[in-house]
Amino acid sequence: MGASQPEPHPGESDKVAHPFKVIAVTVAAAVGGLLFGFDTAVINGAVDAIGEEFTLSPGILGFTVAITLLGCAAGAWFAGQLADRLGRKKVMVGAAILFAANSVGSAYAFSEWDLMWWRLVGGLAIGTASVIAPGYIAEVAPSKWRGALGSVQQLAITLGIFAALLSDAFLADTAGSALGELWWGLAAWRWMLLVGVLPAIVYGVLALTIPESPQYLVRHNRDEDAARVLRSVSGVQDTDLKIRQIRESFNSKKPTFKDLRGPKFGLQPILWVGMAIAAFQQLVGINAIFYYSTTLWKSVGFSESDSFTTSVITSVINVVMTIVAIAFVDRIGRRKLLMIGSAGMFVGLLMATVSFSQAEGIGDSVELTGIWGPVALVGANLFVIFFAATWGPVMWVTLGEVFPNNIRSLALGLGAMVNWIFNFIVTLSFPWVSDNFGVWIMYAIFTIFAVISFWFVKTKLPEFSGRDLEDREGLETT
Ligand code: GLC
Repeated sequence: MGASQPEPHPGESDKVAHPFKVIAVTVAAAVGGLLFGFDTAVINGAVDAIGEEFTLSPGILGFTVAITLLGCAAGAWFAGQLADRLGRKKVMVGAAILFAANSVGSAYAFSEWDLMWWRLVGGLAIGTASVIAPGYIAEVAPSKWRGALGSVQQLAITLGIFAALLSDAFLADTAGSALGELWWGLAAWRWMLLVGVLPAIVYGVLALTIPESPQYLVRHNRDEDAARVLRSVSGVQDTDLKIRQIRESFNSKKPTFKDLRGPKFGLQPILWVGMAIAAFQQLVGINAIFYYSTTLWKSVGFSESDSFTTSVITSVINVVMTIVAIAFVDRIGRRKLLMIGSAGMFVGLLMATVSFSQAEGIGDSVELTGIWGPVALVGANLFVIFFAATWGPVMWVTLGEVFPNNIRSLALGLGAMVNWIFNFIVTLSFPWVSDNFGVWIMYAIFTIFAVISFWFVKTKLPEFSGRDLEDREGLETT
């Protein structure tokens, strides 16, 4: 089960035959990740202005922000099923249309209800993108590069988060504030949401140009098309053999939810493993940092402009460390990387927990004095360093590759939905628990989950590095 150098597979040459082509196709699919990152983060710069413009109570405002995450969960759930029926490409184009509609609709929202509706639509798009990119990339990538190429989606997510931070700051700065008016009489906060339409158009156009996935083509009896993609993108030489392997891996004509059933609490064991990995990625609290960064850095004692600089630095760390993961994920394997990640996150989170347990005040007015400010700052960034190099990308790679072909799309949809539900729970409970019990309780919970995630990976997660998607020997017993 330990990580090892991948062996060349039957039918797959030991060199990646068409590196540029497979990278280009991966990047095109990963633009969905860019929108995922941008659209989840862009609200940060707009949220206060939205509250003022529509005079919203904190509860309604919080819900307006969080409703997107519910949309994401629903989008992930349906995308998995649609990907099998309509094909991966059509689902990407559909997501691009929803992304564009969400940007325009939210920018021109005339009430909080209208805005909530469009944010829900945006969530459907984000959830869809979160499922379709890892699945598609895993299916076209040569095995030995699958981890690295799958991680490109997370790189795009982190770039999207970074771009949203800069774009929000630029627009607010140009207008004097997020409520200030800019071009065409639109307030800056509305522009923040509108600019997402550009990457959405790029995504839609690129999705039209990429080939359909070989697994989808074989399932729909388009063997010749599948052979062409396998040869020209994935670099498979013996395409007949590969198509036979893919066909054999489909043990039923059309996958239904019945195929997900298994002996362990009603589901196949590998599904529980995938869902748990998806849940842990959120339960270590990454989005408590990304969604509530201003409050976090303020409590460390930073002014508003220092807070912004720190958020930029954290965001850059997030991007750069994802590149580290791309370099290592296929060499040292998913399991080792995740365990290193859990250990490192544990240290960072523990530092943050201890610092915040010494804090004065509660909720928004929490303040760290003396050494505890710097300790929290270092701890939080250490946590981001380890998350970005490990759990950030590797969770999505795992969801893309760990399920058998027959149920991959359905199961991936289910796993991603679990990820979004836990994102929603953490995001919604963070301010409430912080206000009522102190922020350190949340960090303590995240620290505990870092420990449990280590144990879980060590004892339950099979190594998938370098394996063929069709090669599932020994895996069903996990
Ligand atoms: C992962 C998580 C997402 C988080 C991001 C931060 O993609 O799934 O929730 O915002 O990493 O980089």
